[in-house]
Amino acid sequence: MGRPFIFGTNFKMNQTPAESVTFYRELAARVTTRPHTQCYVIPPYTSLPAVSEIARDDDSQIWIGAQNMHWAPEGAYTGEISARILKALDVDLVLLGHAERRGLFYETDPDLNRKLLTAFDAGFRVLLAVGETADERHYRVSAETVSRQLKIDLHGIPAAHASHLIVAYEPVWSIGAGGTPASPGDVEPVAMLIRDVLAGLFGPAGRDVPVLYGGSVNPENAAAFTVLPDIDGLLVGRAGWTVEGFLATYEAALAGRDLAASRG
Ligand code: PGA
Repeated sequence: MGRPFIFGTNFKMNQTPAESVTFYRELAARVTTRPHTQCYVIPPYTSLPAVSEIARDDDSQIWIGAQNMHWAPEGAYTGEISARILKALDVDLVLLGHAERRGLFYETDPDLNRKLLTAFDAGFRVLLAVGETADERHYRVSAETVSRQLKIDLHGIPAAHASHLIVAYEPVWSIGAGGTPASPGDVEPVAMLIRDVLAGLFGPAGRDVPVLYGGSVNPENAAAFTVLPDIDGLLVGRAGWTVEGFLATYEAALAGRDLAASRG
């Protein structure tokens, strides 16, 4: 059995709890579950209690994720959320290292290393986002940047935790309204590099870590990424924020996946 296919969206600072519930209910009712395929949604913290509660009782098995997490078990960290708090909300997945956390909130790789150690200890799956800025791309240090991020973020993580890791390659210049989508030709070599770095860190278990792409994905371009042999799914932003958009992008992503499978 190869690596699973993983697809979902991060809502960033959007959605009230009631909006998240409406979205989740409709998505859960309409999404087609497939073997070896996993969907996830990452709403704001404030939506997690309500969404987790309805997720407990439905069969869609969509993972619920948190957008961030602090590394300390508890303490004087105003505005932060701990692993213990997220555990109490039945969160399946924690997104760490999103470009907006790194860029706008000055999250460093050593910070992320502490967060990853804490998250794995708490038993979470971690969706770790990495990617170079436009400047780093300009100076042709994308490979160095991504491999430095992975090596620091994952420093000291035992190979046993690799089964709980998912990596998303999200070039910063491709994200958001001002972003330019990466081309599949940009993405495939970095995905291969990510796999090599993970194998260097974790041995054979590193090759089983799913690698996703994210950054201006939409129904029109999704298949061009998921057809790539080293891409195992997507981390979608804006295109996934309506149920229609989520499903259209998901179906396109699956079509790319199926085409890759038919090519062997
Ligand atoms: P976008 O966001 O799809 O809206 O570019 C992607 C992301 O931030 O992960």
